[in-house]
Amino acid sequence: MDRAWKGLLKSGIIFLSFSLFVYIFYYIDFLEENTLLDSIAWPNIPSVPPPVSLNDTSNAALSNSVILPRPGGGSWLVGDQVEVMIKMFDFKGRPKTHGGDFLLARLHNQTLEAGVAGQVVDHLNGTYSAVFLLPWEGKSQVEVISSVWSNKCDVSFTFMTAHITFTTICSGCLPPTQQPQCNYTDLNTGELWFCYKPQNLSCDARINHFVTNHKPVKCHLLIGQLSAKTNKDIPGPAGYYYKGLWSSLSGSTVKRLNSASAISQCLKDKVVHMYGDSTVRQKGHIFNLILRYIANELDGVTGGKNTVVVIGFWAHLTIFPIKYYIRRIMSIRKAVVRLLARAPDTRVIIRTANLKQSPAPHTMIFSDWPSLQRDKILRSMFQGMKVYFVDAWEMTVAHYLKHDIHPPRPIIKNMIDVVLSYICPPK
Ligand SMILES: *[C@@H]1O[C@H](CO)[C@@H](O)[C@H](O)[C@H]1NC(C)=O
Ligand SMILES: *[C@@H]1O[C@H](CO)[C@@H](O)[C@H](O)[C@H]1NC(C)=O
Ligand SMILES: *[C@@H]1O[C@H](CO)[C@@H](O)[C@H](O)[C@H]1NC(C)=O
Ligand SMILES: *[C@@H]1O[C@H](CO)[C@@H](O)[C@H](O)[C@H]1NC(C)=O
Ligand SMILES: *[C@@H]1O[C@H](CO)[C@@H](O)[C@H](O)[C@H]1NC(C)=O
Repeated sequence: MDRAWKGLLKSGIIFLSFSLFVYIFYYIDFLEENTLLDSIAWPNIPSVPPPVSLNDTSNAALSNSVILPRPGGGSWLVGDQVEVMIKMFDFKGRPKTHGGDFLLARLHNQTLEAGVAGQVVDHLNGTYSAVFLLPWEGKSQVEVISSVWSNKCDVSFTFMTAHITFTTICSGCLPPTQQPQCNYTDLNTGELWFCYKPQNLSCDARINHFVTNHKPVKCHLLIGQLSAKTNKDIPGPAGYYYKGLWSSLSGSTVKRLNSASAISQCLKDKVVHMYGDSTVRQKGHIFNLILRYIANELDGVTGGKNTVVVIGFWAHLTIFPIKYYIRRIMSIRKAVVRLLARAPDTRVIIRTANLKQSPAPHTMIFSDWPSLQRDKILRSMFQGMKVYFVDAWEMTVAHYLKHDIHPPRPIIKNMIDVVLSYICPPK
């Protein structure tokens, strides 16, 4: 009897400790998830007084920007930081008083095939700063690109039946008005989504693919010019283009392997595993790769100094909720930790998100904004680990060629150079 009780007590304690362990294990994941979600949270946007109108959204054509003078005066030197102040206005010409616009910035000179991405800072009051490094000598243009679809509170979707088409405003935060609303909140994820109900149409008439009647326009906000003279010691962004070639600023040299024999020499004896969507392979179909569990496959890799693992699978995951994305990366990261523990010499290369321009029916779900969020998350989740990054985001922002989910060849060539430089570092 006594024994039986002791046994029971023992298993009870084991069970409790195990539950506590599992709980802590998941709680740590939960805490990290919250921190990540906070880091990409959209700035607070005051609710717009009804009726909501697209006229309240940012109009790139009316917005303006100035290049701030060089601190300390004098002419710009290579290695300087240039700051551009951007002031956003809405379609009625009123200055915006809150943040949340999605702006991209680059400094470039197409003749020199030179370009570098700028960091955009949201001051949350309708003004933004874009900060650039000046990596090369000569005249350059500053360009700020505004993706008009960014303002979360002002998105219109089309409703359609056989005879009527109606476009209304939808958002995650619709101010209440007389007009009835349709509630499309996702039951699984809890992600809020509402639309003003179109007259004479039922809420079920919303067509599935979020076909919008507007195309997202990437508006060029500003063209400014400045000249730089030489200077040394360049800090700052991941890299820049000059004469069409990407140079890294993070300390590693980019090697150019231009002949097939040089490349095969580099890849001799190497086993390269590529995981991810079509942007890693530049071919293949959207969905067949998403559903393969990368983490499970990584556990099957022996690893070692001749093993290279390339991961880059953010692109098509933008159609899934962000929490799902975080969970997927968490499991992949755990698998990478295990891989590096059993074979520390394995080279793990992570390709970040790139800019893209998507065909009209997919503008909402395939816009650059979700990619940027996922890109930020991916970077912070792998920070401090022994992995190598291919900064596809900056490599597309900085380049003058058209953004595409599958970047044009000159950009891909530079990305391959970066990957090969990690696989066969210059001696
Ligand atoms: C937007 O502004 C334009 C010009 O001021 C006006 O003609 C139009 O009716 C406005 N639209 C809405 C929905 O307020
Ligand atoms: C917005 O904030 C920035 C940074 O704090 C400040 O420099 C700027 O003057 C502000 N602009 C307005 C219109 O308040
Ligand atoms: C690009 O650089 C070339 C050579 O320095 C210069 O002549 C040209 O004006 C620059 N173009 C722009 C748009 O700044
Ligand atoms: C929208 O639907 C969700 C899920 O059914 C519900 O929890 C929420 O209260 C609804 N919101 C409004 C404003 O009706
Ligand atoms: C809705 O239906 C009513 C009655 O059939 C009609 O008078 C009205 O014009 C319709 N409204 C719209 C926006 O089609």
